[in-house]
Amino acid sequence: MASNLFDGLLSVRSLFRDRRALGHAFNPDNLPHRGEEISSLVNNLVEALRGHAPSNMNLYGRPGSGKTAVTRFVCRDLESKGAAEGCNIRAVEINCRNVDTKYRVLAEIGNRLADEADEMIPFTGWPADKVFEHVRARMQARGGVHVIVLDEIDYLVRKGKEGDDLLYSLTSLNIGLLDGAFCCVIGISNDLAFTEMLDPRVQSRLSPIDVVFPPYNASQLEDVLRPRAARGIKEGVLDEAVIPLCAALAAKEDGDARRALDLLRISVQRAEQNEVQRVGISHVRQAQNQLEFDQITPTIQNLPLQQKLVLFSVIVNENNGLTNISTGEVYGTYEMACENAGEKPLTSRRVSSLIRGLDMAGIITAKTTSRGRHGMSKRINTCLPPAFDALEVMCSSEPVMNEVVGARYRLQNRL
Ligand SMILES: Nc1ncnc2c1ncn2[C@@H]1O[C@H](COP(=O)(O)OP(=O)(O)OP(=O)(O)O)[C@@H](O)[C@H]1O
Ligand SMILES: [Mg+2]
Repeated sequence: MASNLFDGLLSVRSLFRDRRALGHAFNPDNLPHRGEEISSLVNNLVEALRGHAPSNMNLYGRPGSGKTAVTRFVCRDLESKGAAEGCNIRAVEINCRNVDTKYRVLAEIGNRLADEADEMIPFTGWPADKVFEHVRARMQARGGVHVIVLDEIDYLVRKGKEGDDLLYSLTSLNIGLLDGAFCCVIGISNDLAFTEMLDPRVQSRLSPIDVVFPPYNASQLEDVLRPRAARGIKEGVLDEAVIPLCAALAAKEDGDARRALDLLRISVQRAEQNEVQRVGISHVRQAQNQLEFDQITPTIQNLPLQQKLVLFSVIVNENNGLTNISTGEVYGTYEMACENAGEKPLTSRRVSSLIRGLDMAGIITAKTTSRGRHGMSKRINTCLPPAFDALEVMCSSEPVMNEVVGARYRLQNRL
């Protein structure tokens, strides 16, 4: 039989028992270290089972702190308890990063509440009032309590009026617009200051219960990983040090459980690719590198040309043996790079602000230090993963950078 490109990989015995258990879409049935947050939701949402409107809620926390997982977990139990007790309770979860206008959020809610006889609300085209009226009428017709989860709501609120208007409309439902039905809004966001962005009228109407999700520490992340590893990975495959290392690395990254799971899953994948039967710390290191590469590559690809020229100027000086590079040294190289790119150089003040932008993006560090009577100066260094070729990434995403990178530069040397 002719050989097939996939034969080699298929014949390798997989180290996973169920890879999905380590994926983002998996809904675990136990969430260690989120007991308090779960209780806050349960204590409020129990009102729905008593036939009353629960308060609105805002959940905050860093990425990967379990906000979405906890909300789904609680809503699932709420709906099933509602069904068992004969209460009409329904949770509708919408991600505002994907569904990002007031119209679309309302249309989505309306369509999820639709009966077979109901007309589908189109993605666009109806007057806003008509969409809202359909949502209201469907809530009323179904009765009971409608829990509307607006995940990543900061995306919508950052768009100005869209977020305000949506929340204003949804919170108006409980003020006389519904008869025999209630609506409760749970907003989830990364940004603690997000309610400050809201119109004060909306803020006072929302009057939510706030729940803050703290980041996980390393030992908590170990507890998050162990049950998922037991379910997802075959027994005896992980070296003892693997889970603690994944947890420690992710704890440094703001205690992000998603990062910890990614590290573990990719470590196992790496071991499989290397055709070994045990996962060790070297695979975790490889996974960490891969994640850093995957994170930084699009950031650098998408930098505007002027920012690429500034980054190039830092890198060229570093490759020339300089560390703690000053703004003046960067600017001198940047002017030459602009000439090679056929670009007009920006003022050094603008370049300083581009340097701050690169610092905020986590590509370089730029520390301000005092030089006594010579005023303030920056000490600039790149902070890219080892072996990451930023020049190659810039050249492949912006052809003119080939001219810039290929040219010769007169660089300063320090005595
Ligand atoms: N306590 C926990 N136990 C088990 N898995 C968890 C726990 N907390 C988070 N996770 C898992 O970590 C991943 C990220 O969690 P989740 O999506 O809930 O984070 P989030 O706070 O909503 O993040 P973001 O702000 O980026 O949306 C998910 O796969 C989730 O199942
Ligand atoms: Mg989330």
